[in-house]
Amino acid sequence: MGTVHPEEAEQFAEPVRTDHWNVDELPWDSLQAERIVDNEPFFFLVSTASFVEITTDLYTSNLTAHYVGDDEVTTWLQDHWQPEELQHGAALKRYVKTVWPSFDWDLAYQNFYREYGLLCNAAQLEATRSQEMVARCIVETGTSSYYTMVRDASPEPLLKRIAHHIRTDEVGHYKYFFRYFRKYAQQESVSRRAIFQALWTRIREIDNEDGLIAYKHAYQVRYPDHVFDPQHYERFRMNLDQMTRDHFPFEMAVRMCLRPLDLPHPVERLSLPVLVAGARRFL
Ligand SMILES: [Fe+2]
Ligand SMILES: [Fe+2]
Repeated sequence: MGTVHPEEAEQFAEPVRTDHWNVDELPWDSLQAERIVDNEPFFFLVSTASFVEITTDLYTSNLTAHYVGDDEVTTWLQDHWQPEELQHGAALKRYVKTVWPSFDWDLAYQNFYREYGLLCNAAQLEATRSQEMVARCIVETGTSSYYTMVRDASPEPLLKRIAHHIRTDEVGHYKYFFRYFRKYAQQESVSRRAIFQALWTRIREIDNEDGLIAYKHAYQVRYPDHVFDPQHYERFRMNLDQMTRDHFPFEMAVRMCLRPLDLPHPVERLSLPVLVAGARRFL
């Protein structure tokens, strides 16, 4: 296997507590708004992420109910995972409000919440506990990769720093969910095929409505005189092409996705370059 960058290898280490930062202690005075205020893609990358992160409490209760009786998991979800996700939302919200003060974040969020809230229900959870843990690993792979890209591409140092903190938390979440996945995979003696199905379902959903809904409500409040068309969202995504090619951590993402399958090393070694190339095309 090729050399693994230390940062890309960190998802293989033991989970650690991630309460290493908080919003109020960030050096808000150092924010260099002029470096990012005219950057349209970053406005949408940060504002849409803030909406989704801050809404974590909507699905925490569903998730906790799925693991009722397992105090280790439910306590971690309630005492660590949820507060950390909410903190991500709070930091990004404050960032948006500081850099783009004329954008009515609260109004856009209210509109987003009304529509997005209808999608968050228990029916979205996987049938078994181990399969849901696989789904969670994929979600955390997505967020870890997203914030890696935001960190590496950000033209503004404070956003780089915030994205780095969030990314560290998301990798930590992955580690916990992966550990719990292993526990339940043993208990439920789940087949590799079932794991693959859960994995694939969730990967297909990465391109689902969440991003579009968040973008639509940010767009409508930013441009109240325009009529929103889904093509605006498509154009936004196409404009991210270069950033994605340059900064999206494809290899890290594929490795994290493959891990629950526990493939024999020669298989992983053979499939990895093909999958990374495929992922680049897919995105
Ligand atoms: Fe998060
Ligand atoms: Fe997370």
